[in-house]
Amino acid sequence: MATTLTWLGHAAFALEIAGKHVLIDPFLADNPAASVKPGAVAADFILVSHGHGDHVGDALAIARRTKAVVISNAEIAGWFSKQGVQTHAQHLGGGHAHPFGYLKLTPAMHGSALPDGSYGGNPAGFLITLPAGNRLYFACDTGLFGDMALIGEEGIEVAALPIGDNFTMGPDDALRAVKLIRPAHVIPIHYNTWGLIAQDPDAWAARVRSETQAVPHVLKPGQSLSV
Ligand code: NI
Ligand code: MN
Repeated sequence: MATTLTWLGHAAFALEIAGKHVLIDPFLADNPAASVKPGAVAADFILVSHGHGDHVGDALAIARRTKAVVISNAEIAGWFSKQGVQTHAQHLGGGHAHPFGYLKLTPAMHGSALPDGSYGGNPAGFLITLPAGNRLYFACDTGLFGDMALIGEEGIEVAALPIGDNFTMGPDDALRAVKLIRPAHVIPIHYNTWGLIAQDPDAWAARVRSETQAVPHVLKPGQSLSV
């Protein structure tokens, strides 16, 4: 069964995997680039990469409405659990077989304080091995780090990488990340939400095409890629 990745704008994705709805970093209500409102998304699981507001976003409201399970690091999962929603805590390097696939939390070079100032543990990326065996890597908010090559060794079909600069990798380092990870397909994210992270994704995609073997996919919010 095909897996569909729909970019909702900024770092938010809606995945449909074997009939399960998986949201990643659902920052929608206050996201000027969002393609949907938080009341209109389906969710069985919500993955939260780190504590910042543009990633925690509407996760709590969506979890309350849908009864979705929030999956994050132990600190963030604990914060959600205190607010009465179902959670599953993991941590960096640890994987677990969920109904949508095997999810491993990967390191990310960033911060993670929660919106109310609570400690948010270490930020994470997500490596999902789909039921068919192919892998998706969401780097989430991070700077470039050499161990992306180790993640690439697992064989990545689709990587979603930030290119916005200022808070995360910019276009140059994201291109270096593609060379380390060597995904078959790459989706740029975390840009053009605000002027501070304005980038030209088509110019970046042209560099990916000319300098790497990866196929870039510049999605508009609401557009999907199927694998
Ligand atoms: Ni962040
Ligand atoms: Mn962010």
